[in-house]
Amino acid sequence: MLKNNLLDNILLYSSLESTNNTAKSLILSGATHGTVILADSQTKGRGRYNRSFFSPPGHGIYMSIVLQLAKSHLRNHLNLVTLATAVAVCESIEATTEKVPQIKWVNDIFLHQRKVSGILTEKMVDKENIPWIIIGIGINFSTPKDAFPAEIKDTAGSIFLEDTPTITRNQLIAEIINHLLSPYHRTTQEILSEYKKRMMLIGKETLITGSGNPFKGTILGVDEEGCLVVLKENDQQISLSVGEIWQ
Ligand code: BTN
Repeated sequence: MLKNNLLDNILLYSSLESTNNTAKSLILSGATHGTVILADSQTKGRGRYNRSFFSPPGHGIYMSIVLQLAKSHLRNHLNLVTLATAVAVCESIEATTEKVPQIKWVNDIFLHQRKVSGILTEKMVDKENIPWIIIGIGINFSTPKDAFPAEIKDTAGSIFLEDTPTITRNQLIAEIINHLLSPYHRTTQEILSEYKKRMMLIGKETLITGSGNPFKGTILGVDEEGCLVVLKENDQQISLSVGEIWQ
């Protein structure tokens, strides 16, 4: 097997606890940069804030890509890796379907006001203290409306929610891998501009949580580091590196 050759290593599993967890184990046992881990289902799929990510078999895409931090020019800002991934997922959906997804900062992708995909970017060091990034992507591809658990049934959607899929999961996976690895050669400005074009709620007053209590603010966009730029009710402009927008 050729070492250091991107896409040399695509690992496919029928079921895993979490592709991000498997990615972490592989990094500790010597994964190569660009290894892709795919599972048909997950028993402990995770999202941000340790929320669970519904991952039934047959209808979703659950994948993780492991990258050596030093090989990504976005290495200084983990948020930018998440932004680049969100752009890659949107562009892949746009390239293979007629659908027009939107992004809710920082890591959620929506179609018709329903969340169809989430991204979980994590960082770790290997046994030699070399830093790695794990990019986890979960996509509801064709999960039917009535299959979602009660707590997300009003907010979750699928790329093909009520219509018959016009592509296979494999086609979308291939497109995402190709897109995802090419944005790393794009400039940060290009990624930010593609991200902003697809950003939901720009100019809208929303409820936002940063690291503290929720507050009201108007979403202005994202800054050079992928932080959310918000105009607070007292006219103060702030940038949030962590947090969530509540519509
Ligand atoms: C979120 O919604 O906050 C992010 C969800 C990320 C889910 C994906 S599925 C593949 C990878 N493995 C996980 O356990 N999580 C990510």
